[in-house]
Amino acid sequence: MCGIVGYTGSQNAAPVLLEGLKKLEYRGYDSAGIAVVQDQTIAVSKVMGRIAGLCEKTADGSLLPGTTGIGHTRWATHGAPTDINAHPHTSNDGRFAVVHNGIIENYLELRQELTQKGYHFESETDTEVIVHLMEMYYQGDFKRAVMKASSRLQGSYALGILCSQEPDKIFVVREASPLILGVGIGENFFASDVTALVAHTRNAVYLEDGEFAELTPDSIQVYDCAGHPIQKPISRISWDIQAAEKGGYEHFMLKEIMEQPRAVKATIAPRIKNGEIVLDDLDIDMHCVNKIVITACGSAYYAGCAGKYALERLCRIPVQTELASELRYADPLIDSHTLLIVLSQSGETADTIAALRECQRRGAKALAIVNVVGSTIAKIADYCLYTWAGPEIAVATTKGYTTQLTVLYLFALYAARQLGTLEQERYRSLVSALKMLPKQMQQALDMNPGIPKLAQKYHHSESMFFIGRNTDYAVALEGALKMKEISYIHAESYAAGELKHGTIALIHERQPVIALCCNESVTEKTMSNIVEVKARGAEVLALAFRDNQKIVSLADDMLFLPRTEPIFCPVVEIVPLQMLAYHVAKENGCDIDKPKNLAKSVTVE
Ligand code: F6R
Repeated sequence: MCGIVGYTGSQNAAPVLLEGLKKLEYRGYDSAGIAVVQDQTIAVSKVMGRIAGLCEKTADGSLLPGTTGIGHTRWATHGAPTDINAHPHTSNDGRFAVVHNGIIENYLELRQELTQKGYHFESETDTEVIVHLMEMYYQGDFKRAVMKASSRLQGSYALGILCSQEPDKIFVVREASPLILGVGIGENFFASDVTALVAHTRNAVYLEDGEFAELTPDSIQVYDCAGHPIQKPISRISWDIQAAEKGGYEHFMLKEIMEQPRAVKATIAPRIKNGEIVLDDLDIDMHCVNKIVITACGSAYYAGCAGKYALERLCRIPVQTELASELRYADPLIDSHTLLIVLSQSGETADTIAALRECQRRGAKALAIVNVVGSTIAKIADYCLYTWAGPEIAVATTKGYTTQLTVLYLFALYAARQLGTLEQERYRSLVSALKMLPKQMQQALDMNPGIPKLAQKYHHSESMFFIGRNTDYAVALEGALKMKEISYIHAESYAAGELKHGTIALIHERQPVIALCCNESVTEKTMSNIVEVKARGAEVLALAFRDNQKIVSLADDMLFLPRTEPIFCPVVEIVPLQMLAYHVAKENGCDIDKPKNLAKSVTVE
């Protein structure tokens, strides 16, 4: 979704802004723009399409001289992706420029009011109201105008505001949308995401909702919503620059798939001490919990669906999985005996935040499993476990999903230990099995060199079915999502036992069916389904353990998996499916890291 950056210092701002925007490209966008102040004038350049176009239009920033500026990548919500709708927006008198992440919910009323007062609107965006409010409230005091304008806004916003009268100053405002300040020496920055900051500084200040800040080259002053100065701690950004670069891989997604053994190891290793799961940050009394509700969106939700099996099996507590966008409006049966588990790579997903708040309001305690340190979900949950996957740049998640699932396994063992639902010997053997997962994920990558060839066979398909039972079904959900979002092939996951209740009508000659057969408690049953679809002409690509000869002889093609502890198998099982989706998308010439219409961090409902 939209990304914002800002710079004030002694360098020319435009090249710094363009570099920062490039780092935010992965979030998904359809237009971009920058604004720079010089000689009490704000110069703006915007383009529809890619940042490369903006670099071209501004001669890599050299056509916009000046040392203070703001930039934006826009993912269209209100109004089509055009040059005019792109940010920054400027006031009618040219005095102010604004970039905005989020949505102004009351923009229609404000637009009407401002139009009646004679302000002229150029764009169809909700954002433009902000810049006219700035003009309306400005009487020589920039800070006061920022406070008055923001007090009129409802919705979510992270703002960067320039004023031509104060050329060395930027005001930023945060309300329900991420905003991080980068602290430099003789220069300061802001961005919606640390990836745009790490090339310049590791020192960051995380703003809270309702706070705003004044940035000059030599100072950062944060204020509370009443305008009183407040002191904020400076946090250290631990992500390094290489982690956010491709490192020789053709795509970020491929790099991130390959990084998974390391990411899962980084997630597990510090949390196993002397054979025990140690989750220092938690003091949850599991004896007070009578139900666990897992909520999230997209792949994070599917990680929850797979993790549910481990939690129920190990803890013997009912676990419910709910899409956050549904749960928030479902009048859910949640009380103080419910433990809510919230999964989110970015920690900024709007629906997940809303569901979390709704459940907390009903008395639930919330455990967040999040990748981005200092993100909104990490802050508002009662407990937080980080996934330590490092920056995930490809829009389609891979290591985000597998590390979320890994943390769910760690938590399941931790909770089971507390509840006494696991015998000592079984507990120890499961902890050992957990430690084996990184190696097994690497084996899953190594033992399937034929995936590019399979992709050549299957990439012409118009649709694919992913089938499986139990944990295999949970993995099928994520396998199908990966396929459709990056290759644009319609892919549907189906519980194999449900085929006969409808979907089998769609099976025809050469219809690809990806059959997941790694959960051996149900593979015999799934094999019957394979026979049924093959009898109707389907082409079956099965995923199973190499020594499962029955399946090898039944399927047309195979993907293999090393033998893994059944409870933890999904985290290994997804790996060849991610790779298959990647190669099919590559065959189809798709923009793998930035699939059309998708955004990395979905900060609007
Ligand atoms: C799919 C994907 C999305 C995210 C979803 C939630 O590959 O990445 O479905 O999983 O948008 O995002 P987070 O985990 O940031 O809350």
